[in-house]
Amino acid sequence: MTTGPFAGQAPGKLILCGEHAVVEGHAAIAAALPRFTTVTLLERPGPTSLSSDLRDERLLPALLTVVPRSGLEIEVHSELPVGCGLGSSAALAIATLRALAAREGREASFAELYERGFLIERAFHGNPSGVDHAVSALGGLVRYRRTDSGPEITPLHIVEPLTLVVVNTGTPAFTTAQMVERVRLRGSSRELAAIGALVSEITEVLTTGGDQHRLGALLDQNHCWLQRIGVSTPELDRACAILRSAGSLGAKLAGAGGGGVAFGLCTPGSAPGVHAEATAAGLAAFTVIIR
Ligand code: PMV
Repeated sequence: MTTGPFAGQAPGKLILCGEHAVVEGHAAIAAALPRFTTVTLLERPGPTSLSSDLRDERLLPALLTVVPRSGLEIEVHSELPVGCGLGSSAALAIATLRALAAREGREASFAELYERGFLIERAFHGNPSGVDHAVSALGGLVRYRRTDSGPEITPLHIVEPLTLVVVNTGTPAFTTAQMVERVRLRGSSRELAAIGALVSEITEVLTTGGDQHRLGALLDQNHCWLQRIGVSTPELDRACAILRSAGSLGAKLAGAGGGGVAFGLCTPGSAPGVHAEATAAGLAAFTVIIR
C-alpha cells in the first residue's frame, strides 16, 4: 500500500474587474495565473504540522479546517506572494483539497473544490465571495456571480488574448476581510452597482472581440470607482499612472486593494516597454497572457 507523499497544485488568480462589487452580488471576471501553489502531504505520527516558505500565522489553522489534525506533515511551496491580491489563499485551498483527494486515491470534483474551498477561504477572509477559489479550481478566464440560489460560474471564451503587465506595490496594511468591511461600513451600493455595470460592458468587449482601447478605458473607469470606495492607495494610483504613461491602454488595481497588485492592459508590442518602465520605476513586474 502506498503511503505518499500526496501532492496537489493550483494556480493563483488576477481579478480583471468587479472586485468588491462581487461581494454584493454583482459579477466579477477573474483569470487563473500561471503561478502555482503546491501542497504535499506526508504521513507522520503525531499532531499535523506545517513546513512552508509562506510566512502567515493564519496558515495552519486555516488548513486544519479540512486536513486531519494528526498524522500528517503539510508542505507548502508557493510562487505567489501572500496577501497581494494574487489569490495565494485560494490556490492554497484548492491545492490542499487536491492533495487530500490524491491521498484517497481519487480526483476532487469542481463541486467539492468549490464547497470545501470555502472552509479555508473563510478562515482567511471572513465572508469571501468565492470568486478566488472558483477560478483557481476551474482555471482559465471566468465570470463569477454569487446569487441566493448559488454561484453563476461562466467560463469566458475571449476573442483576443489579453496581454497584461502586473506590478506589485507590496503587502497591504489591511487584510481582505478588513478592506471588505471598510467598503461595507462606507455604504457604497451606488458605486458597486456602477462597477457591476462596467463588468457587463467588459464581458461584451471580451467576448465579441471589441476594441482593446475601449477595454482599456473601461478598466480605467473601474479603477476610478475603486478609488471612490476608498480601496486604492497613493502607491496603487502611482503604479497605474506609470503603467498608463508607459503605454498601457488602461490600468487598475486588482484584488482587495489597500496595497498589493495593479495591472496594465497592453498590446503584445507595447508590453516589453511597459514592463521595463515599471521595473525601472522600482516596481516588481511580470507579464502574463490571458487566453
Ligand atoms: O483577497 P483578494 O485581494 O484577492 O480580494 C478578493 C476580492 C474581493 O472582492 C475584495 C473579496 C471577495 O471575497 O470577493
